[in-house]
Amino acid sequence: YSQTARTKVVPTFLLLGPSGAGKTALLTLLQKRSSDQENADASSTRTSQVPWRASLLLPSSIPLGSNKYRSDNDVSLKDKHPTRYVMIDTPGHGKLRDDQALSQLQNPVLRGVLFVVDASVLDSSESSSSRDIAAYLHDTLLVLQKRKTGKASSKTKANIPVLVAANKQDLFTALPPGAVKERLQTEIERVRTSRSKGLAAVGQEPDADAEEEVLGGGGEDKFTFKLMEDEYGISVDVVGGAVKGEEAGKGVRRWEEWIGGCL
Ligand code: GTP
Ligand code: MG
Repeated sequence: YSQTARTKVVPTFLLLGPSGAGKTALLTLLQKRSSDQENADASSTRTSQVPWRASLLLPSSIPLGSNKYRSDNDVSLKDKHPTRYVMIDTPGHGKLRDDQALSQLQNPVLRGVLFVVDASVLDSSESSSSRDIAAYLHDTLLVLQKRKTGKASSKTKANIPVLVAANKQDLFTALPPGAVKERLQTEIERVRTSRSKGLAAVGQEPDADAEEEVLGGGGEDKFTFKLMEDEYGISVDVVGGAVKGEEAGKGVRRWEEWIGGCL
């Protein structure tokens, strides 16, 4: 490893999630936290149309996953410094997802995915936004599943964990993270069922390949995030927080701890 080769391999995280979830607001906040510039412009975000890549520092107080098995007296001086990582913000608009967002899941240095959702729109009985969120998360997990099972080089077979950031917990209509998890699992099961009916309708024989086309495999069990972990080693955690509003910054540390656990 030459010095230049090393500096290029900065662990990268991807921000996915529907429009309005708070991805750009989160990256702006993380950027502010890592530069300590209180006056960094965080005042307004607007709908994103292209990806935005930012280099960030993880506070040195946050434990790193790679240090987990080291004893306390084995923590080298180097670990006291903040850890550098890269976060890529993507546009959440439905028409831009495939080209500008899901395509980034092929990034060979990808370390994790933060899927941001607005927990307040999952609450209503009007469920078209729930369906949209679930369809997007379904497609994200399916790309990660195929990345795992596909014929690509071993380099891209690393486990990519997913954090569902249940954002906007400051709003009283927001579902708590446990309920967000339940809602998403139920909705993803619906997406999975209708997609596999679609596959059958276009006359695809249920062969070995078809199993890999179905999220979680072709089994009888209802979809759960645990299934993704058990079958493909893709862990999905749901953690609540808020980027803006009265509880601004709440939970962001827990999201950073999740990031630290991947480093
Ligand atoms: P696209 O770029 O369209 O994909 O959306 P985005 O996910 O980047 O959303 P963005 O960060 O632009 O946030 C959308 C709106 O939600 C903005 O008005 C934010 O101020 C607001 N917002 C973000 N996080 C929170 C939060 O935790 N609580 C509340 N109340 N509002 C939030
Ligand atoms: Mg945005």
